Amino acid sequence: MSWKNKYIQKIVSADEAVKVIKTGDRVLVGHATGEPSALVEAMVRRAGELRDVQLFHMVCMGQGEYCRPENKNSFRFNGCFLGKHTREAVAEGRGDYVPCFFFEIPELLTTKMPLDVALIQVSSPDEDGNCSYGVSCDFTEAGARRPETKVLLQINERMPFTYGTYINLDRADFIVEDTREIIVLPTPKIGEVEEKIGRIVADLVEDGSTLQLGIGAIPDAVIRFLGDKKDLGIHTEMFSDGVVALAEKGVVNNSKKTLHTGKFVASFLMGTRKLYDFVDHNSDLLMLPIDYVNDPQIIARNDKMVSINASMQVDLYGQLNSSSIGPNMYSGVGGQVDFVRGARRSKGGRSIIALPSTAKGGAISKIVSRLDPGAAVTTSRYDVGAIVTEYGYAELIGLNLRERAKALINIAHPDFREQLERDAWENKNLR
Ligand code: COA
Repeated sequence: MSWKNKYIQKIVSADEAVKVIKTGDRVLVGHATGEPSALVEAMVRRAGELRDVQLFHMVCMGQGEYCRPENKNSFRFNGCFLGKHTREAVAEGRGDYVPCFFFEIPELLTTKMPLDVALIQVSSPDEDGNCSYGVSCDFTEAGARRPETKVLLQINERMPFTYGTYINLDRADFIVEDTREIIVLPTPKIGEVEEKIGRIVADLVEDGSTLQLGIGAIPDAVIRFLGDKKDLGIHTEMFSDGVVALAEKGVVNNSKKTLHTGKFVASFLMGTRKLYDFVDHNSDLLMLPIDYVNDPQIIARNDKMVSINASMQVDLYGQLNSSSIGPNMYSGVGGQVDFVRGARRSKGGRSIIALPSTAKGGAISKIVSRLDPGAAVTTSRYDVGAIVTEYGYAELIGLNLRERAKALINIAHPDFREQLERDAWENKNLR
């Protein structure tokens, strides 16, 4: 039977497809902008019949209905990264956070946390019946790795066809067709502080470097100041519209990359329709699973690898809290440590953590003598490289604890430096 006939036979409505979900199942929801909204909505419509369905998801950019209080007995989030809706659920005891490096998640999903059902959105099939994972390959692809997992494919003609990783229609238990627009990420607002940080970070990037850029205003600000660089490359867990602008200018051409020369390498994408059109059938881009892209040993095979990420708090030893406010989880480790470690092991590479010197409108210093009680150490003092604020940068590698404290106080907001100096003086390790 040709794949076209098999395709037609597997097509059902979303409500029909999600009937395979049973009480107590563990269900994977496709990641971030790749979220299969029609399937998720249909699953939530079954809230009255289902109990204790565990949802493995990371960045939830949809409506997050499954974690609303009224659905708490039916669905429980149990994942490795929090966003607005899932953060609320975890804070209120209706969901759970699982600590795990991003590159290790596929292994988790095929061993310790096996999946019963995977809800995955993909592109329309090519002539061989292969669909592309489009904007979300990352851990989503691992959803289909165990033969026992039931795979529900939401095929969307608006999903860009990206090269690198595919799923054949043979693997689908059911297919649901959908035509709604892929979730878009609004462009972040960049203020004066982010601009200053962007300029400092951009100065640290040499021509011919390969970049990983995290999510948010700071990576976007950095991109603005990379316009006069040459021959940059991209090996990153995710990228957004800013990279398209650099590619259009010829600043990013991937020509000096020592791994996958000439290709952008990424695992998921979040941006506007402009980004999605740029990546559609673009043979310069490879979208690969997260256990390859974020593996520190793979990252390190890129010479001059520069990782650029954000954080919430750094103490005077250089320990970073990038994922919690006190004991309450805000986000997760994501790929921060994967890239910090990979970049540090790359020939000529460096890892940069960039953060505004203050939070809450200047009321709180992000450089602190001690992390808040219960805060997560996301990146340890042993892994950390350079720290940048709007007041400059501190390269911490090779500095002893006293030197680290001094270097970090120098880039703290001036309003907090005196207090930090007093705290350092009172701590015999830092005096
Ligand atoms: N104390 C208390 N609150 C703080 C704080 C601090 N030191 N630092 C930040 N906050 C608050 C902010 O006020 C803001 O609150 P709001 O949501 O109520 O407005 C919130 O925390 C987020 O801070 P912000 O600086 O706006 O975050 P961001 O969008 O730039 O993201 C991280 C920063 C650290 C949360 C994010 O980069 C992350 O999750 N990193 C870990 C994962 C990672 O790096 N992955 C690799 C790249 S994709």
